[in-house]
Amino acid sequence: MGHVNGELLLGDNLAILEGMPESCVDLVYLDPPFNSGSLYAQTGSRDAVFSDRWRWDGAAERALARLLEDPTEPVSKAVSALDILLGRGPQLAYLVVLAPRLAASRRVLKNTGSLYLHCDPRSGPYLRVLLDALFDPRGFRAEIVWRRNSAHSDGKQGHQVPGRVHDTILFYSKGSRWTWNPQYTPYEAAYVERFYRHVEPGTGRRYRLGDLTGPGGVANGNPRYDFLGVTRPWRFSRQRMADLAATGRIVQSRPGAVPCFKRYLDEMPGVPLQDVWADIRPVGAHGSERTGYPTQKPLALLERIIASSSHHEDLVLDPFCGSGTTLVAAERLGRHWIGIDSSPAAIEIARARLGWQPSEG
Ligand SMILES: C[S@@+](CC[C@H](N)C(=O)[O-])C[C@H]1O[C@@H](n2cnc3c(N)ncnc32)[C@H](O)[C@@H]1O
Repeated sequence: MGHVNGELLLGDNLAILEGMPESCVDLVYLDPPFNSGSLYAQTGSRDAVFSDRWRWDGAAERALARLLEDPTEPVSKAVSALDILLGRGPQLAYLVVLAPRLAASRRVLKNTGSLYLHCDPRSGPYLRVLLDALFDPRGFRAEIVWRRNSAHSDGKQGHQVPGRVHDTILFYSKGSRWTWNPQYTPYEAAYVERFYRHVEPGTGRRYRLGDLTGPGGVANGNPRYDFLGVTRPWRFSRQRMADLAATGRIVQSRPGAVPCFKRYLDEMPGVPLQDVWADIRPVGAHGSERTGYPTQKPLALLERIIASSSHHEDLVLDPFCGSGTTLVAAERLGRHWIGIDSSPAAIEIARARLGWQPSEG
C-alpha cells in the first residue's frame, strides 16, 4: 500500500525487512511486545489483536538454531551466553524472536542512522546485550527512561515492589556520525521561580540578571574600562555594552552597583533534553488521540524521537507499527515512512489514522 509519504505493510516484519535493500533507512523505532505474558485486545473487544505470550517450542528451537549457525558472529555469541544464563524458557523464546529482527533492522539502517528500541526494564538488559553485539558497545547512545505515570497500582500497599512507572528506550547509532537535532523541554516552575525572579513592569516578561564581567579578567583578553561608573574587565567591547544599554538589556540596580545583563526567560530555548522523560503523558482513556489499539504510544513521544534523530524528508521505519503512531508523527514532521505490522486490525487502524480511503492502495 503506497502513500505520498509512506508505505504500510501487513505481514511478519522479518521477511519484509530481509527483502528491503541495505542501508536505506535513517531512523528505526521498534516497539515490539515486551514479554508481558498478556494477550492484547482492542478497547471494548474480547478478541486478541496480538499476543505477548512466549514459550519454548519448536519455533523457538529453530530460531535459536538459526542464530547459532555462525558461532563467530557477535550476535550468535550473545545469544549463546543468554541461552546459558536464562535457560530455554519464555524469556529466551522472546529474545530469539527479537534478535533476528534487530539484526535485520540494523542492516537496513544507513551508516548515519539510529535505532530506538522501546522495551521494559525486565527485558531491557538482555536486549541491550543483543544490541551491543549487533552495533558494538560503541554504538550505544543512551538509555532513555520514559516515565509513563506518576503512580501505578503495582506500588499499592500489599505489592512488595515499587510501582513500575517507566519504560526503557534503548538508543543506538550505526556509525560514529549520526543525526542529532538538539531538543529542549520547558523549565520547571520551581526553577523559573528561583532563577527568573524578576518581572519587567509593563511587559510582564520574566528575566534573570547575568554577569557582564569578563571571565578570567584582563589576563583572558577582556577589555577593562569604565561603564556606568564601574571599572572592570568586561565581557564585551565598550561599543557592544553601549548598544546593549541602548536596547534596555542592561540593569544597574542603583548608582555604583555592578551593571548586569537582562536575560529574558522567553528568549531561552529551555532545558536541553535529558535521558529521563517525565513530561510526556501516556495516551489517556479519553484522550483525543486514542484509537482503542492496545499499547498505543503517545504522538509526543514519537515526535520527540523523530525530531531528534532525523531530518526533513528522511526515511523512518517502524517494524512493529501497531496503530501507526510513528507514521502519523513522521507524516506531521515531513518525513517519509514505512510501517509494518502482522495484525490486520493494526493496519486497519493505522490506515484510518493516516486518513487513507479504503480504495487507496
Ligand atoms: C506494542 S505494539 C505497537 C504499538 C504501537 N507503537 C502504537 O503506538 O500503536 C506491538 C505490535 O507489534 C506487532 N507485531 C508483533 N509481532 C510482529 C511481527 N513478527 N511482525 C510484525 N508485527 C508484529 C503486533 O501486532 C503489535 O501491533
